[in-house]
Amino acid sequence: MSGQFSLSGRVALVTGGASGIGAGIVAALAESGATAVIADINQRDAEREAAALTSRGYRAGAVHIDLAEESSIVRGCTEALARFGTPWVLVNNAGLQDRQLLLEATAAEWDRMSAVNARGPFLMTREIARAMIAGGQGGRIVNIASAALIGSTIRGLAAYTSSKGALLGLGRASAFELAGHKITVNTVLPGGVATPGAIAAKGPAAEGPARRPLPLGRCEPRDIAAAVCFFASPAARCITNQVIAVDGGFSVS
Ligand SMILES: NC(=O)c1ccc[n+]([C@@H]2O[C@H](COP(=O)([O-])OP(=O)(O)OC[C@H]3O[C@@H](n4cnc5c(N)ncnc54)[C@H](O)[C@@H]3O)[C@@H](O)[C@H]2O)c1
Repeated sequence: MSGQFSLSGRVALVTGGASGIGAGIVAALAESGATAVIADINQRDAEREAAALTSRGYRAGAVHIDLAEESSIVRGCTEALARFGTPWVLVNNAGLQDRQLLLEATAAEWDRMSAVNARGPFLMTREIARAMIAGGQGGRIVNIASAALIGSTIRGLAAYTSSKGALLGLGRASAFELAGHKITVNTVLPGGVATPGAIAAKGPAAEGPARRPLPLGRCEPRDIAAAVCFFASPAARCITNQVIAVDGGFSVS
């Protein structure tokens, strides 16, 4: 691929790239020419996804990061920088999706969800933005929140939706503070996607508006990846602090 949508010669780091939406994002970024680096707690699946891409002629790799641990994030980012170079793209994709009904919910679950879904992306943004600024080439940060923030929800998502609200706030604050370094920060809100994580999520029956029939049908990981690739591209240099839902047309359902 060439032109203003090409990521040839650039490095993209994707958290949670070993599964589901993240794996779709990693594949799309690699197909756009990037060296796609998976940062995941599941080292085995991350290595497998990276190997599948390299066997098809793309550039890919993997580093171990546990987003719940600051020391793991600092160590993993240092390793990624040393092995692959400064990322042009950071995608804060990894997230937990378990559900608890509000009236039965626990502080422990809130804290676990918040640590991985909000605090982890904050620390990833801090570490990678420092490297992007030192590299002097600008960069792209894309955060994966959720269409639950705009009503495409199901029961049991109080901790989850709140953690994604924090991620949305992080996007706005970091877009402001990083704009002077030519680093853009944008947010994608996926609707329901049948991923391993979504299917295995613990909790009460998934009832709610998100179950409505969608005019454009259910999204696949590659549909979410398309929006990420746009925000990640050199073409999107004048776009920051924006939010786009990829939700099968939920708002007109
Ligand atoms: N699937 C959906 O319907 C849907 C809808 C809206 C938003 N999202 C969001 O999209 C993102 C990806 O979701 P998915 O459905 O592909 O999930 P998934 O569970 O299939 O994949 C998540 C990946 O994140 C990794 N991960 C989990 N905890 C981690 C940690 N502590 N440190 C590092 N990596 C960790 C997992 O190993 C896995 O590879 C999440 O942020 C999720 O909230 C998903």
